[in-house]
Amino acid sequence: MDSFEFNKISGAVLGTLLFVMGLGLFSDGLFSHAPLKAAGYDLPGAVEEHGHGGAAAAAAPAEPLPALLAAADAKRGEGLVKPCATCHSFDKGGAAKVGPPLYGVVTRKVAGLDFAYSEALKGKGGAWEFNALNEFITAPASYVKGTKMAYGGEKDAKKRADILAYLRTLSDAPAPIPAK
Ligand code: HEC
Repeated sequence: MDSFEFNKISGAVLGTLLFVMGLGLFSDGLFSHAPLKAAGYDLPGAVEEHGHGGAAAAAAPAEPLPALLAAADAKRGEGLVKPCATCHSFDKGGAAKVGPPLYGVVTRKVAGLDFAYSEALKGKGGAWEFNALNEFITAPASYVKGTKMAYGGEKDAKKRADILAYLRTLSDAPAPIPAK
């Protein structure tokens, strides 16, 4: 092999090596990814934390009722009680329909009117404070088992707060919004 041929061969080998290295750099660039912010797998401690956080987050109500009420809007609530109006009147001195009239219902005695209430509601006791109303409207049949109120419930806490804010205005002396 003369030196010229040797140079050709080594040049080709070197060229190939450079090409492969270049390819490596290039594909690194192509397939690069941002560095992971956290380990890609849960460490034993982290797993436990996740479990707790998840359970607590699922169990805890989104926001306490007073905070929701403070942010609520009675005008929006007036729009949201349309389904209730099939069965309830909201006017002062309004007559009973399928359900009892709701003017002044906030803080009123539960089943406190002259109305053919269910035994279940008559046996409930207490008054319609914001908390009680909130629970009742969430799921009437679970809050008062055996209630005659055939309404599925409003599951959106913010919408319920708007409804309560509206019901509160149906009074000559609206009840104060609970501070906490
Ligand atoms: C399908 C008819 C119907 C609909 C819709 C309905 N209600 Fe009722 N509601 C009733 C009946 C009937 C009762 C009496 C329940 C009982 O005696 O168990 C009642 C009772 C109530 C009471 C208790 C009143 C009292 O004097 O103790 C409240 C508060 C109430 N409804 C609010 C609402 C609100 C707010 C809505 C809408 C989000 C609504 N209802 C939708 C029929 C209805």
